[in-house]
Amino acid sequence: MTDIKKGLAGVVADETAISKVNPETNSLLYRGYPVQELAATQPFEAVAHLLWHGELPTDDELAALRATERAHRTLTPEVIAAIDLVPLDAHPMDEVRTALSLIGAIDLAGRGSVLEASGSVEDNLERSIRLFAALPAIVAYGQRRRHGDEPIAPRDDLDYAANFLWMTFGVEADPVVVDAFNRSMVLYAEHSFNASTFTARVVASALSDLYSAVVAAVGALKGPLHGGANEAVLHIFEEIGDASNVVPWLDDALASKRKIMGFGHRVYKRGDSRVPTMKAALDTLVAHYDRPDVAELYDTLESEFVSRKGIYPNLDYPSGPAYSLIGFDILTFTPLFVAARVTGWTAHIMEQLGSNALIRPLSEYVGPDERHIEGYVPDPAVAEALTRAEEAAG
Ligand code: CMC
Repeated sequence: MTDIKKGLAGVVADETAISKVNPETNSLLYRGYPVQELAATQPFEAVAHLLWHGELPTDDELAALRATERAHRTLTPEVIAAIDLVPLDAHPMDEVRTALSLIGAIDLAGRGSVLEASGSVEDNLERSIRLFAALPAIVAYGQRRRHGDEPIAPRDDLDYAANFLWMTFGVEADPVVVDAFNRSMVLYAEHSFNASTFTARVVASALSDLYSAVVAAVGALKGPLHGGANEAVLHIFEEIGDASNVVPWLDDALASKRKIMGFGHRVYKRGDSRVPTMKAALDTLVAHYDRPDVAELYDTLESEFVSRKGIYPNLDYPSGPAYSLIGFDILTFTPLFVAARVTGWTAHIMEQLGSNALIRPLSEYVGPDERHIEGYVPDPAVAEALTRAEEAAG
């Protein structure tokens, strides 16, 4: 019997130079830099450049990237119209998937052949920046239209994170909030061969285009075992109410074998390296909004769950309450993850294409033994060809 690694757990599928996840030392490096150092010192645009190019940008490179990002911030009327076609009670990830797909179709119009669509290195960098720049507008408008509000035009005087908050809320965010939000974007940007990134690489490996690979990744990220967990954390917080209810709530949840969202990780078994940085950002928001009750609930659930199960929080645990304090709707959390992770996805798509091999694993067949359709008479030419093929195979 073949040794099957269910869920590909523990399987090293390829090399990558983009990030290194080390569960032993509880560290995460983007292109060699510890993620906590990047989150504390770099604007998200610089981290995007690092993921795409391998080095942090010079001042001129950062200015050039920011200029291109600003030039692609506004959604075309077609994309706004496509978002408006998505039912208001559909999940916003469906909206994001639809909008990105249309942006891709419009950009690739005229490249009728699938061979032309896969694009050069330069094409793919341009496409990556286009998606990176459009996502804040898509996510912001998604939240706004659910409140019955019009889209807000981007502000050219604001950098990525501040402009994202501006387009969502229509007020200039406090620097404390911009900083916490920027840190969350940096922490979510990249995490090696997670499910959505691997999905993107699989699609790219077939030499499909970058947009198709990103749209597929959005589908993977929507799942509650992956990106969808950050919104599930807030649903849990809402269910619990306040810290005094944690113990009875957890007793019930564990008795009914519920998974507690925001805890556990396929790779990290002793704690997610991104959590301390995001928890520190959450603490700044708790102080800014004067919401000690959020910190109390967070700490109580964490210490109770960790002491009972020995399973530690992942990044979604602190990011969910942080996004909620900033004012994002729960349904907007996973789209925010897309806005960040699109940088990692596109870096991986380009890396995959740089030394491509079609990703096509094998499977162990466990279905019925060979059987035949009653009364079937084979076409003689087909039968002869099959016999020849069998003989050639020995
Ligand atoms: N709550 C309760 N029990 C858990 C949890 C949890 N959050 N996570 C793992 N366990 C238990 C699980 O029930 C199993 O117990 P048993 O051996 O008795 O059946 C054991 O721990 C191993 O769990 P697993 O699901 O087989 O482990 P995995 O490596 O396949 O799963 C995981 C990793 C992330 C899917 C899982 O921990 C989980 O479902 N967590 C909740 C969802 C979540 O927070 N996802 C976000 C992941 S991090 C962000 C991202 O990458 O997108």
